[in-house]
Amino acid sequence: MSAIYPSVFARFYDLIYDRIRAGVDSDFFLEKISEAKGPVLEVGTGTGRFFSTALSHGADIYGIDISPAMLDVLKNRIPAEDHKRVSVQDIREFKHAVKFRLIIAPFRVFMHLTETQDQLKALNHVHDNLSEDGLFIFDLYIPDPGLLSKGLKNVMDFEGEYEPEKVVRRFVTAENDLVNQINYLSMRFEWDEDGKILSETWHSELRFFFRYELEYLLQRSKFSSYELFGDYQGNPLSSASKEFVVVCRK
Ligand SMILES: C[S@@+](CC[C@H](N)C(=O)[O-])C[C@H]1O[C@@H](n2cnc3c(N)ncnc32)[C@H](O)[C@@H]1O
Repeated sequence: MSAIYPSVFARFYDLIYDRIRAGVDSDFFLEKISEAKGPVLEVGTGTGRFFSTALSHGADIYGIDISPAMLDVLKNRIPAEDHKRVSVQDIREFKHAVKFRLIIAPFRVFMHLTETQDQLKALNHVHDNLSEDGLFIFDLYIPDPGLLSKGLKNVMDFEGEYEPEKVVRRFVTAENDLVNQINYLSMRFEWDEDGKILSETWHSELRFFFRYELEYLLQRSKFSSYELFGDYQGNPLSSASKEFVVVCRK
């Protein structure tokens, strides 16, 4: 399944996204977690960009992800007694004994669901696992028609040292199906190891959404109401917005 992240991506994930993403969404999600008055579930918790900080600040947080390699990295960041808080599970059918006050799916987790029936299944399953008045917060990027029509051809979007004098580079290719709203992504990682240059490529698909499709989907779900924001500062959507930040109320 193309949504399962391979170990090469898990290995370099924090190095890459601490540089290119942390300043965008970290304060927002950490604040939402700390404000929650009850247990929190992070869906698609990945390597624990938010999870490990939230846990060390005392949050009653749990995590699920479908990629074992991502959770292996996360488990190395948290105390062994907290490993039971994370499990390999899918947003569409996870099982948990408790109901959550807040469920979050940060950084485009939802875009890995390429079929409408899976998107609805996920929304309704999250809904059913919230306590009364619980919130589900997730995000999606807002499609840029110019970028989508051009695509990307082997563009190096990251270069950095993962250990002193050992460099990793990432090259991205994106071919976009504008009718079916799918990004076909290839990520090639190239890194120095024992004097050799190693390379691995991962293929994945992301489903992009336009505003009213997203709204119709939310209206078809079990959620009683939702709000859409255009960034992580709570600003309304505008023609300049780059992200849909979605807050659904049970
Ligand atoms: C871009 S990463 C985001 C990780 C983390 N939330 C962050 O902000 O750094 C997307 C994550 O979603 C996970 N994922 C994709 N599809 C999923 C599904 N159906 N159920 C649970 N997790 C999923 C992937 O394994 C990956 O770890």
